[in-house]
Amino acid sequence: MRKLGVLTSGGDAPGMNAAIRAVVRYGIYHNINVVGIRNGFEGLVEGDHLEMNLSSVADIIHRGGTILGSARSKEFMEEDGFQKALRNIKYLGIEGMVVIGGNGSFKGAMKLEKAGVSTVCIPGTIDNDLPYTRYTLGFFTALTTVLESVEKIRDTSSSHNRSNVIEVMGRDCGDIALYAGLAGGAEMVIIPEIEYNIDEVSDKIMQGRTRGKKHSIIILAEGAGDAKEISEQIEKKTGIITRYSILGYTQRGGAPAAYDRLIGSQMGAYAVKLLSENQRNKAVGINGGGIFEMNLDEAIAVEKKFDERTYELTKILSI
Ligand code: F6P
Repeated sequence: MRKLGVLTSGGDAPGMNAAIRAVVRYGIYHNINVVGIRNGFEGLVEGDHLEMNLSSVADIIHRGGTILGSARSKEFMEEDGFQKALRNIKYLGIEGMVVIGGNGSFKGAMKLEKAGVSTVCIPGTIDNDLPYTRYTLGFFTALTTVLESVEKIRDTSSSHNRSNVIEVMGRDCGDIALYAGLAGGAEMVIIPEIEYNIDEVSDKIMQGRTRGKKHSIIILAEGAGDAKEISEQIEKKTGIITRYSILGYTQRGGAPAAYDRLIGSQMGAYAVKLLSENQRNKAVGINGGGIFEMNLDEAIAVEKKFDERTYELTKILSI
């Protein structure tokens, strides 16, 4: 392996920069040149790139976002755009690609792999919706950000004896809501994996009130219901003033948590190691045993197992 390319694709996630830094520095240390592709697969189609050196990745490990830029590229998924991307890879002399992103990005990477480009993926998304790996890059930072907001909103909830519905991101995956619910002591979480029952939510709030609770925090995952509608229903059923907040893009940015910097660095180096050993079609992940790899097509096919235990525990602990 003489030259590899690296790109970040899909929604940006804290820790992506740590992974880029590791790819570049680990590569250069092993005499591999690294080309950075700007704006995800769009940059591959357009040939938008920069030759990376040690200084290109200086002072970025602690920064949110991605220095390479990111995009969701339609053109790359179409035949003309894809052929342009392949021509650019050849022209640039790229012998392997590291793709950092979420499930859409993994599918793009699979297209490259099938066309003969050696590709290794790193899971980078706040959603934690790639079930082959225990955690994705950015998930812990997003959780920390959510918890900071939950705590602020709880102060106001207690001061005014209100209920508050807080909508968090996650696309079709309830992990941010579920883990923020457990770690933030929420009264209830509403997630896409479990159909909610408004009577159950309202009863839970009333139970808390009966034993003197001054606040009620309901964490709602996007994709599980409408924040405005749910808060109106709660207010109607409980008679308690209920407000809602949608945290939105505040969850995507910000300095990466220590964990995301660590696994970003480890996964970046591991991806380069795999490519340098002529391994291909791989997804890097983390589990109880540390960093591991599995075949990309198998990783994409792993189905989500709902974390029933965490859900039940969140309910039990919020009685
Ligand atoms: O995948 C990350 C994510 O932030 C999701 O949680 C959310 O549904 C989506 O991206 C928003 O996408 P966009 O950046 O295209 O608005």
